[in-house]
Amino acid sequence: MGSGLWGFKSPLRHFKTMKKGKIAVFISGRGSNLQAIHKYSKNDNANYRIVLVFSDNPQAAGLTYAVKNGLPTLCLQPEQFNSRKEYESELLNTLLRLQVELICLAGYMRVVGKTLLENYGGRIINIHPSLLPSFPGLHAQKQALEYGVRISGCTVHFVDRTLDGGPIILQQAVSVLPADSEESLARRILKQEHRLYPRAIQLFFENRLKLNGRRVEIE
Ligand code: GRF
Repeated sequence: MGSGLWGFKSPLRHFKTMKKGKIAVFISGRGSNLQAIHKYSKNDNANYRIVLVFSDNPQAAGLTYAVKNGLPTLCLQPEQFNSRKEYESELLNTLLRLQVELICLAGYMRVVGKTLLENYGGRIINIHPSLLPSFPGLHAQKQALEYGVRISGCTVHFVDRTLDGGPIILQQAVSVLPADSEESLARRILKQEHRLYPRAIQLFFENRLKLNGRRVEIE
């Protein structure tokens, strides 16, 4: 069984059995990027699948979405551990057990510590709502408005020890309009985030991201 009309395997069948990269999505809140990443993963062409949604916040709306959509979830609260090391070690056990290959931070409001960085070096990515290196940290859209830039956007980057300072994978520019409020700008940037993040994950698993110094070359 399993062979096509003339004895060779149908390409469609090959697609369906293609090995998909295993990702964990880390969230702390709303989870709209999680939804976009998940939606994309359901395409036949997607080369990744979500094997874990992790949250440090039991109230995160994204967790409700994950449960409703049958995605495996884990919630650990750092306050319940003696140290960040213990918290991350517990989390790491699950990531290793599920053979997670890439961690995607999507509104995860914690600094990633040594334990995860050492075990997942070069395999943690994040999305940030500005054109880095401008406006790292919290309230990036507010920072952009207050600074008066005409163009902002979003960035997907590798995570390293620095705050929003790791090598840049993809960026998308978004115009800042004269009448923009923080909310309206955030909304337009978010729309682009939802397109950018799945593309970056796809590139990662196509093995096309090569690090050259701090530059990411897309092969
Ligand atoms: C996004 O703007 C993302 O860039 C930032 O946090 C926000 C998360 O939004 N890191 P959501 O939870 O994915 O809706």
